[in-house]
Amino acid sequence: MSFLSKTLERVKPSPTIAITAMAAELRAAGRDVIGLSAGEPDFDTPQNIKDAAVAAIAAGKTKYTAPDGIIELKQAICTKLERENGLSYEPAQVSVGTGGKQTLYNALMATLNPGDEVIIPAPYWVSYPDMVLLAGGTPVAVEASLETNFKLTPEQLEAAITPKTKWFIFNSPSNPSGAGYSQSELKALTDVLMRHPHVWVMSDDMYEHLVFDGFEFATPAQVEPGLYERTLTCNGVSKGYAMTGWRIGYAAGPQHLIAAMRKVQSQSTSNPSSISQWAAVEALNGPQDFLASNNVAFNRRRDLVVAALNAIDGVTCPTPEGAFYVYPSIEGLIGKTTPKGTVIEDDEAFAKALLAEADVAVVFGAAFGLSPNFRVSYATSDEALTKACARIAAFCAALT
Ligand SMILES: Cc1ncc(COP(=O)(O)O)c(C=O)c1O
Repeated sequence: MSFLSKTLERVKPSPTIAITAMAAELRAAGRDVIGLSAGEPDFDTPQNIKDAAVAAIAAGKTKYTAPDGIIELKQAICTKLERENGLSYEPAQVSVGTGGKQTLYNALMATLNPGDEVIIPAPYWVSYPDMVLLAGGTPVAVEASLETNFKLTPEQLEAAITPKTKWFIFNSPSNPSGAGYSQSELKALTDVLMRHPHVWVMSDDMYEHLVFDGFEFATPAQVEPGLYERTLTCNGVSKGYAMTGWRIGYAAGPQHLIAAMRKVQSQSTSNPSSISQWAAVEALNGPQDFLASNNVAFNRRRDLVVAALNAIDGVTCPTPEGAFYVYPSIEGLIGKTTPKGTVIEDDEAFAKALLAEADVAVVFGAAFGLSPNFRVSYATSDEALTKACARIAAFCAALT
């Protein structure tokens, strides 16, 4: 009998490990590998936020806090949700966790029973299906195609709902495609959900602030107030505020769900770092102007990468509305061979050969549930992006 649990057996190891390990090996051997796989902004955390953390340490705010967050942060979150999303929540409807990841995980742990289904549009953030499996549920991936710019259609959502569906996980702008749903696209999905009152919505708004070309972010409970009672609105400071290492995420929703999530957290990690919580108070209450200036850089990089990738024969790259990723298709390259004799059988073979033969690290589409594609994170310098795109172009041009 295995020492490890049956639940863990259902969870697959991260498919990105092979690429990350290969990249580290090549770097150690002195190769100039350009990494386009990081899921975090290259900007530093703003100084006022760092100062707030230092002040919290100096003031001795270094003890246990309430398990799911200090009242000051919950209030700052309520103010933010009202200010930016037109959503009204009380602090008792808010849960603060160690990163967005923990709040999503808590919600699934608190609600899933064996047999419960969770609809996840693909391409998806790698953790959703495995979190569902860890919590004992069944992930139901629904592929959103290149033709719809990787957005799920209302017909697809309708067809995926069964009596066993418990949650619909919605992520806009998306990791890995960058796709952002407009208000009307989202309303078409919430109209479907209004017809199925047993389905709850977990909206992962982590990339809310990273949007371009005047795109207006929208979240389900705002677009359809009728869903307020069965929506968990999830967000965090990791991406927009360049605070990935601080580990603060949050969720707002019905009080009974928040209380259940608190129970999970109080018996696992307890409170997120007290110091990070005070930094997050400053992030949400302090000046927000750096968001726009960071976006100018992200927007420029997105345009640079989309243009460079679309210029490559066999590669098709839609222009996404947000986040800092693009998700090009390599349909036109499948079956070709590299000068070293590697056959590009699928997107994993493509990413491995690109790394081994052209020193560029990207994540292959199979990791995100939609192939044949790869994910480029453009949260790096213009110079590195230009160089990396030139390498990808040369690599693809040499395929026969
Ligand atoms: C879509 C999405 N949601 C949630 C998270 C988790 O964020 P955090 O670092 O705050 O746990 C990530 C991180 O990559 C993400 O891409």
